[in-house]
Amino acid sequence: MLTQILPIDGSSLRLAKNIIERGGLVAFPTETVYGLGANAFDDDAVKLIYATKGRPSDNPLIVHVHRDYDISALVRDVPDYAKLLAKAFLPGPLTMVYASRGKVSSTVSCGLDTLAVRVPSHEGAQAFLKFVGLPIAAPSANLSKHVSPVTARHVFDDLEGRIELILDGGKCSGGIESTVLDCTGDVPCVLRSGLITRDMIAKVAGECDEYRMVEGERVRSPGMKYKHYSPRCRTALFSYADRMQALALYRQCLSRGERAAIMCDDMTAADMEDAFVLSLGADENAVASNLYDRLREGERVADVLIAVAPLKQDGVMVGVMNRLTKACG
Ligand code: TXA
Ligand code: MG
Repeated sequence: MLTQILPIDGSSLRLAKNIIERGGLVAFPTETVYGLGANAFDDDAVKLIYATKGRPSDNPLIVHVHRDYDISALVRDVPDYAKLLAKAFLPGPLTMVYASRGKVSSTVSCGLDTLAVRVPSHEGAQAFLKFVGLPIAAPSANLSKHVSPVTARHVFDDLEGRIELILDGGKCSGGIESTVLDCTGDVPCVLRSGLITRDMIAKVAGECDEYRMVEGERVRSPGMKYKHYSPRCRTALFSYADRMQALALYRQCLSRGERAAIMCDDMTAADMEDAFVLSLGADENAVASNLYDRLREGERVADVLIAVAPLKQDGVMVGVMNRLTKACG
């Protein structure tokens, strides 16, 4: 299969709609990462997502809709706090989990009675969703367990020959996946941290819980239990306090004749002397936005990728640390 990368315009959108309507897959940009989309009503198309990515069959998918889509067709029991949150943050990087009406393919939620819904803010995503006019089930457009894609090229590197079309909307600005929020209880509960932080949610909803996996308990968000986001090279992760140990390991790697790189923010980079640094940038939004791109660069240029965690660990960094630990820990 020939994989095309096309800019988003009338002709690529017509092709995208045609592919989706005949049960195929289209990769599209969002403000977080690229998604691999299929018609959420089409069971075979949704199954094709799992086969194409090599995704475990018990990890449910998010359904994406455009800003004017009436989600009450898909879900029920939307609580008042969720309406406030939708008003405050949508379209944007917040996925909300509700009781499902069971209208989309049951493969989307892997048999759960809930449905995760997301309204992305990326203009290209909105154009695609509006033009196709169907709810689109989509995970991140990477091979399962690999680093999520933030450019069309990243999608191509993972899925060339497996999908027909990648809609190119440039580099994703957010850089880490959406916050997943359970809205089925009296109080919203963060299942996966992201750019919309627990504090931001609590400010609008009054309060907000955060899910913690309990040993032996059935996981509420199955995706969280898998190894994820891994670059295809050896990795090591150091705290900011241990950054000089990272530099020592870097020197050790070089002396063994291995290619090494240190991935860190600008503040840490200042201490890394002459080491080869993959910079994550200066502030938390830059770090989130650059993380996956640097992980993919790291696996290309190094045998050992040595990451140093930023000093600051709250807000958006909760989501970044969650990914960094899974990728390099
Ligand atoms: O930013 C994003 O969310 C990106 C873009 C493409 O929208 N998508 C994404 O999808 O990250 P994926 O498949 O990589 O992650 C989906 C997450 C998983 O952790 C999954 O367990 C959770 O959402 N999820 C999906 N449906 C759920 C449900 N019904 N209940 C609880 N968690 C759910
Ligand atoms: Mg993913």
